[in-house]
Amino acid sequence: MSRKRVAVLISGRGSNMTALIEAAKADDYPAEIVLVVSNRPDASGIARAREAGIATAIVDHTSFGEDRAAFEGALDAELRAHRIDLVCLAGFMRLLTPSFVTRWSGRLLNIHPALLPQFKGLHTHRRAIEAGVKRHGATVHFVVPEMDSGPIVVQEAVPVLEGDTEETLAARVLEVEHRIYPQALRLVAEGRASLAAGEPS
Ligand code: GRF
Repeated sequence: MSRKRVAVLISGRGSNMTALIEAAKADDYPAEIVLVVSNRPDASGIARAREAGIATAIVDHTSFGEDRAAFEGALDAELRAHRIDLVCLAGFMRLLTPSFVTRWSGRLLNIHPALLPQFKGLHTHRRAIEAGVKRHGATVHFVVPEMDSGPIVVQEAVPVLEGDTEETLAARVLEVEHRIYPQALRLVAEGRASLAAGEPS
């Protein structure tokens, strides 16, 4: 079976992108990272992708003002030009509209630094500490129109330790992210995890 062609969308350093690039080097990995797209021209992950010999594109959302449809049209054109099969959002900080999400339904993954459905949205580590939870973690899920709400593919928990700060907890969760994203992409690329039509989100 030919390997799935994957695009990774980033907005910053792209450490999850790097984890996916490394995992895809395995001979038996069912996907290849063929494109990295950033909505921010200054994303340091772009340089890393280029060093890895991977095609990159910048689709700068600020060039489109408030016109989300135009931004997503440009994004979609890049993905189609590269014959992309699966899209991995990795530290991508733009909300995608229902029309884009629907067009890529079942082929769009995201990693969220919390144990969904807990702590949807931003600042998850600070909120976990403030809430006094003893377990936190990361989730890879299919993207659906509602933010941080799609069917879960892989999740892994970490303990919240006495004296944890937002930074120490974030670092512990990031290690998990770098493990579970490659696992989740493998499951989806091998067809062992799919967004069944009508599956409860
Ligand atoms: C990190 O906070 C990570 O938890 C979340 O997005 C942020 C940037 O990740 N997924 P990355 O280093 O750009 O992959």
